[in-house]
Parts: sequence; structure tokens; C-alpha cells
Amino acid sequence: MGRYKLSPGRMKMPMSTTCWLSLVVAIILCWHAADGSTPKRPSSFQFYMRDTLQNKTAPNLNTAFIVGAPNGNLTGFKFGAVVVFDDPLTEGPDLTTKRIGRGQGTYTYDNFYNPGFDALMSFSALIDTHQFNGTINMFGADRLTLPTRDISVVGGTGDFELARGIATITTFVIDGDTFIVRFKLRLYY
Ligand SMILES: *[C@@H]1O[C@H](CO)[C@@H](O)[C@H](O)[C@H]1NC(C)=O
Ligand SMILES: *[C@@H]1O[C@H](CO)[C@@H](O)[C@H](O)[C@H]1NC(C)=O
Ligand SMILES: *[C@@H]1O[C@H](CO)[C@@H](O)[C@H](O)[C@H]1NC(C)=O
Repeated sequence: MGRYKLSPGRMKMPMSTTCWLSLVVAIILCWHAADGSTPKRPSSFQFYMRDTLQNKTAPNLNTAFIVGAPNGNLTGFKFGAVVVFDDPLTEGPDLTTKRIGRGQGTYTYDNFYNPGFDALMSFSALIDTHQFNGTINMFGADRLTLPTRDISVVGGTGDFELARGIATITTFVIDGDTFIVRFKLRLYY
């Protein structure tokens, strides 16, 4: 520090330059103060999502509901059926493993010729742990019969601010109308 003495020259810095510098510093400070921290921006992230659509023995456990369907018939995965979900996200496939957030959004059955085979997935993973806090927004064709499929990561907030990337979905278990799927994310910022 001692080597950088205030030289008289610096005092002669034009007022406008000083103003601009202060403005830039103020903007940078505000930028980081907005959420109190710098995004952590992990390059990979993984979780399991449990979607319970119709547990007939314990309907109170359901986390997903068909909310729209052709002719108002809310049974079956027909073309045009729309499901809204609010599913638990966990570290492992079992519900007893660490909860890391909720997956909230919709999927729409959109395969006209093979109803129930493809769905358009559109949802946000709300991550809330001590390590990461923020949302990851995902969108794309979920081709349910394939063992793995990719959808797009279209954005993120908080620790995932401005994320883009690929979410690889693997079906882990289908038990009746309960789906346990693994999401493996590759993230770019
Ligand atoms: C439905 O709920 C019961 C009671 O908790 C549970 O034992 C069963 O595994 C659930 N079935 C599915 C398909 O999730
Ligand atoms: C509703 O859909 C179910 C399953 O696809 C079918 O069995 C039933 O007949 C339908 N009901 C009506 C009123 O269309
Ligand atoms: C994550 O952020 C939300 C909203 O800013 C806050 O309410 C919550 O306490 C945070 N969670 C953790 C574990 O820090």
C-alpha cells in the first residue's frame, strides 16, 4: 500500500471522471447487494423427483393432479391431458433421503398417435439447501418410453443465476402412477 502515495496529479483528475468512477463503483456494489451474495453457479447438479399422480390407497400423498383433459374426463393419460405438480426433490431415490427442494410446474400429454408416450415438461426446481439456494427452470419433450432423455435448462435464479444447459432424465421407478425420476444437470453460465 505504501508504494501508492497519493500524488498531486490525482487531485487534478477531472470531476467528470471521478463522478463516472463513483457511479461504476456504486453500480457494482448494488449488483452484489441485490441478493446479498454472489451466485455459486455449480457446473453440475443432481436430484430425484417423486411424482405421485394417483395413489388410490393414500390419495392425501398425491403431489400431481390432472387439471385439464379432453371432454373433461380426468382419468387416463389421453392426448391433451394437463398435469400440475408440486413434487418433493431429494438427494436419493428414497423419500427418506435429504430433501433439497420442490419441483413445481406442468406436463402436458402431447403425442396424438400414441397418447401417454410423450409429455411436454415445463417446470421450476426450487432448490433450498444450505449449500445452494435458487431456482433452475427446465423445458422440453419428455419422451417417457425412453430410458433416458434430455430436456433444456432455460434459465436460473439465485445460486443458478443465468444457467443454461441440459437436464438428463432417467426413469428410476414406475410404481402404479408414482414416477421416481433422476435429473442429472450439466450447467453453463
Ligand atoms: C401409496 O401410499 C401407500 C401408503 O403410504 C404406500 O404404501 C404405497 O407405496 C403408495 N403407492 C404408490 C404407488 O406410491
Ligand atoms: C374416461 O377415461 C377412461 C380412461 O381412458 C375411460 O375408461 C372412460 O370410459 C372415460 N369416460 C368417459 C365418460 O368418457
Ligand atoms: C433460501 O432463500 C430463501 C429466499 O431468499 C430464504 O427464505 C431461505 O431461508 C433460504 N434458505 C437457506 C437454507 O438459506
